[in-house]
Amino acid sequence: MKMREQIMISELTTMRIGGPARYVVEIEQVEDLCWAYEFAEEQGLPVWVMGEGANTIGHDRGFNGVIILNRLRGIEIVAEDEKTMTLRGMAGENWDRFVEFTTARGLSGIETLSKIPGTLGAAPVQNIGAYGRDVSQVLESVEVFDTKTREITIIPKSKMNLSYRSSRFNKGGDVGRFVIVSVTMKLSKEQTLSAPFYASLQRYIDEHNVTDFSPQNIRQMVSTIRADKLPDPQFVASSGSFFKNIYLNKNEADEAEQKGIPLWRNEDGSGKINSGWLIEQCGLKGKQLFGFRVSEKAALVLINESATSYAELDKARAEIRQKVLEKFGYELQQEPVEISE
Ligand code: EPU
Repeated sequence: MKMREQIMISELTTMRIGGPARYVVEIEQVEDLCWAYEFAEEQGLPVWVMGEGANTIGHDRGFNGVIILNRLRGIEIVAEDEKTMTLRGMAGENWDRFVEFTTARGLSGIETLSKIPGTLGAAPVQNIGAYGRDVSQVLESVEVFDTKTREITIIPKSKMNLSYRSSRFNKGGDVGRFVIVSVTMKLSKEQTLSAPFYASLQRYIDEHNVTDFSPQNIRQMVSTIRADKLPDPQFVASSGSFFKNIYLNKNEADEAEQKGIPLWRNEDGSGKINSGWLIEQCGLKGKQLFGFRVSEKAALVLINESATSYAELDKARAEIRQKVLEKFGYELQQEPVEISE
């Protein structure tokens, strides 16, 4: 375990803004979690848990509390039969390293989630997804440290309230209660994906006449598509998609259609609007706003080019939301979470 004091949140998050955190503790063993919570309690300070900071934004005032960086690592195979393999990975594992571990063994289930930044433990929190799949489809359970009881328990998928970019870990009364310690997933030894694929993936497949849909090859294609469109947080500051797409019930979808907005319909009539399209239609794609830039390749992504403060983000975000609201009547919801006391 490593403890440091007065560390800038900008150094801990991929968006690279945010003032000083009073304490930062790196956890490498489960026992240290308990210690960190006891330490915070003694000091009368709040706790914030983070992985690689790929979906987290800091405020200029910083955080007068204890930030726990989850560095628990390790991957093991816990069960196997003819058709499936069940894996348990520690929450601090890098997500993409975990994906690679599975595709290298020919396992199918999370191959389209290749190259998503962040940790394995953060994956269920916002139910990460890409190219028509999300992690809820393969999750079995998570092991958590319950900060109320200070005990380790297992939460099965059925008790996680998983939906689009959401779970009981980021929405509702349990936010902040559980620290995810490990994640268990059941993956398939057979290919689980077949044509037609998600639009942007299908486009790539058609253009390159791809016929090999093995997990390794899908990982390869998704990695190429993403590298072309989405900034690598190692080199470019951003939090990936800064806004969520908009999910509509049938009536709302009918209304959107009447307004001429392109949408993806589900069989039950509900639908999805790509917020990136809305932003693009407002003429904001590629635009520079208060030290940020709306990505020229994917309008949902906000890149931090030169901003050093949350105040600048606040202004850039307000301008984008205002324009979309004025033109289309939709309020864009932010995707990354903000460190709060
Ligand atoms: N589109 C535009 N203009 C844009 C961007 C998108 O018109 O600038 C429209 C196009 O019609 C395009 C469609 O939106 O075909 C879908 O775009 P894309 O496949 O790039 O995905 P997205 O909806 O912008 C979502 C996720 C991404 C994920 C991709 C791929 C959210 C908030 N974002 O973006 O996730 O990688 O799908 O599946 O759901 C993230 O969450 O950080 C993230 C990067």
